Amino acid sequence: MNQPMDPTHAPAHVKHARLKAWVAEVAALTEPKDIVWCDGSKEEADRLFALMVEGGSMIKLNEAKRPNSYLCLSDPSDVARVEDRTFVCTDDPEEAGPNNNWESPEKMKETLRGLFKGCMRGRTLYVVPFSMGPIGSPIAHIGVELSDSPYVVVNMRIMTRMGKAVLEQLGNDGEFVPCLHSVGHPLDAGQKDVKWPCNPTKYICHFPKTREIWSFGSGYGGNALLGKKCFALRIASTMARDEGWLAEHMLILGVESPEGKKSYVAAAFPSACGKTNFAMLIPPASMGGWKVTTVGDDIAWIKPGKDGRLYAINPEAGFFGVAPGTSEKTNFNAMATLKENIIFTNVALTDDGDVWWEGMTKEAPAHLIDWQGKDWTPADGKAGRKAAHPNSRFTAPASQCPSIDPDWENPAGVPISAFIFGGRRSTTVPLVFEAFNWNFGVYMAATLGSETTAAAVGAQGIVRRDPMAMLPFCGYHMGDYFNHWLKIGHQVEHAPRIFTVNWFRQDEQGNFMWPGFGENMRVLKWVVGRCSGQADAKQTALGWIPNFEDLDWSGNEEVTKAQFEALTAVDTTAWKEELKLHADWFEKLKSRLPKVMHLKRELFDLTLVD
Ligand code: GTP
Ligand code: SPV
Ligand code: MN
Repeated sequence: MNQPMDPTHAPAHVKHARLKAWVAEVAALTEPKDIVWCDGSKEEADRLFALMVEGGSMIKLNEAKRPNSYLCLSDPSDVARVEDRTFVCTDDPEEAGPNNNWESPEKMKETLRGLFKGCMRGRTLYVVPFSMGPIGSPIAHIGVELSDSPYVVVNMRIMTRMGKAVLEQLGNDGEFVPCLHSVGHPLDAGQKDVKWPCNPTKYICHFPKTREIWSFGSGYGGNALLGKKCFALRIASTMARDEGWLAEHMLILGVESPEGKKSYVAAAFPSACGKTNFAMLIPPASMGGWKVTTVGDDIAWIKPGKDGRLYAINPEAGFFGVAPGTSEKTNFNAMATLKENIIFTNVALTDDGDVWWEGMTKEAPAHLIDWQGKDWTPADGKAGRKAAHPNSRFTAPASQCPSIDPDWENPAGVPISAFIFGGRRSTTVPLVFEAFNWNFGVYMAATLGSETTAAAVGAQGIVRRDPMAMLPFCGYHMGDYFNHWLKIGHQVEHAPRIFTVNWFRQDEQGNFMWPGFGENMRVLKWVVGRCSGQADAKQTALGWIPNFEDLDWSGNEEVTKAQFEALTAVDTTAWKEELKLHADWFEKLKSRLPKVMHLKRELFDLTLVD
């Protein structure tokens, strides 16, 4: 007997009825010309790259200089996350909180159905099964992204575990988060495609109750690679709240002392504030045999272990890192990771078919093609035109990183000794301090401020509160999130210690006062020293701050004692002002703000005396 044609074109081995029904439903709505189920193989990626090169949307880089690597230049209107177009759709707006844009699920679905109607006409619908975390591990969660962007497919192949093995893991009825994505640029009969299709109307929508993601109109980064911010942070943060764990915007690194004692720390810095650099730090040789290893550079899923400690895993498989500022000097390990198998987005092209960005080398090449495809010379740079977009990125397999930690794929995760929170603050916030206790640490993290960067569309360099570096990524009310943090710390027997850092304090001339990068090891050593009771500090109103003598300065040629005092000074007047901003911030969250936060603020205010 003849079988009816499977409208989803699913390979014979796919038996997951719910998945097939969803693909069929999406295909009926979006009307693609074709459906391709991705197997995640190299051959498949090669085919897609070839297709994109042929269509002019990817440039194959010089095989001798950068094997198996590509450059993609986006539309100038689609270069970063669009926070004002990002929505959390809960039944009750209060649940999404003032930290999210809100719409009711019914109304948003109606809008989205209108936008998605026929939006894949003339395009291929790719079915991209992916696992956040090692496939089959008890901590991993599976998603399936349906996208009409081959650029998304090849990026997802690096950023997640993607393809056939995930479908096998899903079996006939496994759980998955449906992630629907379209660039929102249908092609009518005979219409020629553009290099970077997108739509001026953009919606990045999350439905926490049904654990669904719908993203329309953008092909860039976190807007389109839905496993990352949408799933691993916004949806996962609500899963974590319900199930008693944490989904955080944190790097995870290992620190090994010369004696071989290993600890792990997780650190939250807002977008483009140095997570990748810190995660791959190379300690100064003069410090004598300290070693840093990388577990993750952007996202941490953290769960309580049976031994009363918190264990963290990196749910991703790649790095989607900021290119500008990355050099052999600032991040040697990143540069080594970038040698082959890389997708570059919005960096500049050299005349010999390689890439360049501001800060990669001291001198810019004499001629480049900039991120907008235009000729560029150093004179343009002097006139203020950047060759690479400030939010240009590389997509790189984590396994290629020379500092990758041997346990980076351990499904049990790594035990966390310290949490570090840091923002980009030109004034007020000292280089480093340790909170007196968990609640005070949560307070410091909850009031973290940072000057905004090019990672999100909008004004830059403005101080905004970015609690736990999660303001754009927490999928529910920030007040509830603080409560969740307070609760977790009291649930686990050995809660990590909490630290605040600021690499970005400036002097009156606007120069960074701290050399940063590898030199951050001096601070990191003090942090792990505090955790093992081996480092001293002085008590201040903010918390424990190191004296000059408490840091390891071996080989230091840059920082004088006077500079260090300036870097760690607590400016009472500035902090009194800062506390007013905390109060304003709390006012916005007041309906669900834990009372402890108010009490801590008052206590803090009382102890701030000259
Ligand atoms: P997302 O990927 O956007 O979440 O951000 P990230 O935190 O991983 O960003 P990344 O590490 O790529 O940060 C890049 C920016 O931070 C560049 O402008 C760097 O020059 C700057 N940066 C990193 N570490 C330091 C440091 O120690 N000192 C100073 N002054 N700048 C730093
Ligand atoms: C960030 O903006 O924090 C990123 C880049 O890590 S993106 O994935 O585009 O959100
Ligand atoms: Mn990030």
